[in-house]
Amino acid sequence: MHISELDTPALVIDLDVMERNLERVSNYARDHKLRLRPHTKTHKIPALGRRQIELGAAGLTVAKVGEAEVMLAADPPDLLVAYPVLGGQKLARLMKIAKRTRVSVALDSLTAARQLSEAAAASGVEIGVLAEMDVGLGRVGVDPGPQLVDLSKAIEKLPNLRLAGIAFYPGHIKQMDDAGIAALEKLSRVIEETLEQLSAAGINVDIVSGGSTPALWHSHCVRGLTEIRPGTYIFNDRNTVASGACRPEDCAASIITTVVSNARPGLMMVDGGSKTFSSDRLGPTGEATFGYVLEAPGATYVRQNEEHGYIDLRHSERSFEVGERVRIIPNHICVAMNLHETVFGVRGEEVKEMWRVEGRGKLQ
Ligand SMILES: Cc1ncc(COP(=O)(O)O)c(C=O)c1O
Repeated sequence: MHISELDTPALVIDLDVMERNLERVSNYARDHKLRLRPHTKTHKIPALGRRQIELGAAGLTVAKVGEAEVMLAADPPDLLVAYPVLGGQKLARLMKIAKRTRVSVALDSLTAARQLSEAAAASGVEIGVLAEMDVGLGRVGVDPGPQLVDLSKAIEKLPNLRLAGIAFYPGHIKQMDDAGIAALEKLSRVIEETLEQLSAAGINVDIVSGGSTPALWHSHCVRGLTEIRPGTYIFNDRNTVASGACRPEDCAASIITTVVSNARPGLMMVDGGSKTFSSDRLGPTGEATFGYVLEAPGATYVRQNEEHGYIDLRHSERSFEVGERVRIIPNHICVAMNLHETVFGVRGEEVKEMWRVEGRGKLQ
């Protein structure tokens, strides 16, 4: 099928760029002896999880039990749920998954650890646990230091759990400028001190798991880090470009939209708004623009309703007729993927793949 035959809005993935992104990170991880456990929250497609494993990923990461169920189709040797799993229903489903592949969970509370231990004991499985520490994002994770040591000791004592290591998510480091480099140096010191404290308590961990896409190419400078879990790198997006971790030409995913109106002077409307792109602003700057128009970089995607994207054309290189199509790179591809039932892999002008986003909407 020719790309012009796709109805819009359509999320398309340039397969050559995606493959180059996958190979580059896989080579980087291998060269620096870092375990790669990509976060599949970005693509949510088992076929792509399988490709990551073929290229050397040690396993896959998910956020939700529902995503883990979907990713079993990728035959992962290992699945990390990088999110505390609480409640009998989710735990029962997780135990079924644990009978099919090795499962670990990152958690930060004794409550979550106890619930997991009880479910694992009742099912006769062993679950790996990563004790989660907060290194600056202020989201989940106990403080590094005595709190993390206490949590790790408690996990070690619980039946059917294996303390596999520690985890953190450096989501507060959004740009690799001087401040970003300084934040990574601080992170190295936190990890070194944490490992010393654990060791003094008689705990030696194999896995130190972190790593996001913005900090990706500096991962080998983070002392003590053994595993990276980037997700966005498979496609990249405007946020990744703004972070400095990729060039605009490394963005594999874009959304084809149709110009549905140019009735308002200096503006055009495209047939995709917040239901197509998500309302996420640019991460590093918070700038209220919602995408990069490939055909006219001077045009700015300034506002959204659910089904309307407002493109300001006052500084655009060109004007557009109603019915013309424009391709727009979203700010945050992970949430955009979650909004699309089907996405299309393209090579040049040819549509080569059609994938259902099987992990979309898996909130539980
Ligand atoms: C816990 C965790 N690990 C890894 C990632 C992947 O980060 P990125 O999408 O920047 O590659 C995320 C992203 O939200 C995350 O929440």
